[in-house]
Amino acid sequence: MKKLIVANWKMNPGTYAEAEVLVSAVKAAVSPDVEVVLCPPFPWLTDFSHKEKGIALGAQNMFWENAGAFTGEVSPVMLKSSGVQYVIVGHSERRKYFGETNEMVNKKLKAALAAGLTPILCIGDNEGENKEEVLKAQITEGLANIKDLSAIVIAYEPVWAIGTGNNCSPEETKSSIELIKKLVNVRVLYGGSVKADNSASYLKEAGADGLLVGGASLKSEEFIAIVKSAE
Ligand code: PGA
Repeated sequence: MKKLIVANWKMNPGTYAEAEVLVSAVKAAVSPDVEVVLCPPFPWLTDFSHKEKGIALGAQNMFWENAGAFTGEVSPVMLKSSGVQYVIVGHSERRKYFGETNEMVNKKLKAALAAGLTPILCIGDNEGENKEEVLKAQITEGLANIKDLSAIVIAYEPVWAIGTGNNCSPEETKSSIELIKKLVNVRVLYGGSVKADNSASYLKEAGADGLLVGGASLKSEEFIAIVKSAE
């Protein structure tokens, strides 16, 4: 199976013009041997999904209802009908700043699957927490009552490794991926300070099925080098 490399731009870059430059650079370098997914902010998502053939697009978040009086929210059906294929659910920043719980994550996952999107469920322990307990709770509560897991992707992202430059060692990542795969048979990505000089170690030594890349996905050369390491 091809490696899955997901670019989580978060609330970046600052302008549409910069986003266009970044998309064109990445598009010119994507390889048929790697599944590359770009997750730009909502305002640009549908524009790129309509214009930029050959790159898969993902949203960074969504609501669990398909329509209605929910000011400011975006539905899974809106995403799907706009050419979006993937959606990140339960990112640690959503959990931390926007109060997302495992129960909310569960509703979002069910809604994403019902709409035909591929959800990327983010899980990860924070410093000082019992990793095994946290991951088990995030998986069992997040995936509660979901019978068919075949379309689900999990991203293992230790919270302390995100945006810090302090990436998790490939050895520790390997044991976390094994733990997750014992609980659920799904594709597992690693995320947390992935750079071009450490990406191969996750794909080759730690057994990750792909990567969720934040900061490094905003620098086209760096991101293209990460994609190349997955070929
Ligand atoms: P980072 O972010 O690569 O900047 O650490 C990863 C993420 O938040 O998904």
